Amino acid sequence: MPIPKVDKIWMDGELVDWDDANVHILTHSLHYGSGVFEGIRAYATDRGPAVFRLTDHIARLFDSAKVYLIDIPYSLEALVEAVRETVRVNGVESCYIRPIAYLGYGEMGLNPLPCPVRVSIAVWPWGTYLGDEGLRNGVRCKISSWQRHDPNAVPVASKGTGMYGNSSLAKVEALKAGYEEAILLSPQGYVSECTGENLFVVKHGRLLTPPTSAGALEGITQDSVMTIARDLGYEVGEANLLRTDLYLAEEAFLTGTAAEVVPIRSVDDREIGPPGPITKAIQETYFAAIRGEVDRYKDWLDYVSG
Ligand SMILES: Cc1ncc(COP(=O)(O)O)c(C=O)c1O
Repeated sequence: MPIPKVDKIWMDGELVDWDDANVHILTHSLHYGSGVFEGIRAYATDRGPAVFRLTDHIARLFDSAKVYLIDIPYSLEALVEAVRETVRVNGVESCYIRPIAYLGYGEMGLNPLPCPVRVSIAVWPWGTYLGDEGLRNGVRCKISSWQRHDPNAVPVASKGTGMYGNSSLAKVEALKAGYEEAILLSPQGYVSECTGENLFVVKHGRLLTPPTSAGALEGITQDSVMTIARDLGYEVGEANLLRTDLYLAEEAFLTGTAAEVVPIRSVDDREIGPPGPITKAIQETYFAAIRGEVDRYKDWLDYVSG
């Protein structure tokens, strides 16, 4: 789906017209994947648009930057405010938000340290990433022939732009084979995560999700879902999972800001089935929480107008 245009993009402290939000062809990050980014969503609520867990996302952007020794020239508070401003000036009710800190035009070569650090924030209306049908009835997944990065090869705890070549290879392989999403295994053979989502299985009534040591990103949706699941009375834990734990799961679903909470219908053609009761209960509470309808999760929302 093409990106729908809005009016303004925040670039290095200025709101510039959408069509003028360009970079030089010798931008370092374009050549070496040396940027870090976030994916955030704002949702319509009865008090206007609210950004979901905004400070947590911007804190993760700073953590990602720290791993790569990128010194972001703004404070966390300034970027939080810049996101709110960008959503506000574009007059969108709900949107996806893409902050990126990247290395600009200046020097070339594999020492990134002398390059200028630039920051931009774009927003645009974006429906659910894996489609409404997937959200309702589940997606079909394939274990990828591409492995998740070894964390000593590429730091998987950081949302570095360059590492997403791995996710793209896995995604294209899955799509070309007729599936909707790929699941990657760690170099040790444990289930890691999907291309841009964490995953959960239900096993003997317990919810399990792979740990960061299996190469999974510490997902903010994953964390929200773990909180919701515990509050609903389910047992939740992190565990190393084998691919057969996916094939034999009682229920399975994936979580991510772009995708939200999406049931997994099958893995490698082994049917898990239509969304089960635990998946549905979590989906229902999550979607109510992001709309500001659940009091106990109201701190997760950052209203853009005050
Ligand atoms: C590789 C990867 N795993 C998991 C996630 C889910 O994280 P979150 O729920 O914070 O969006 C993302 C998205 O940011 C991702 O890119």
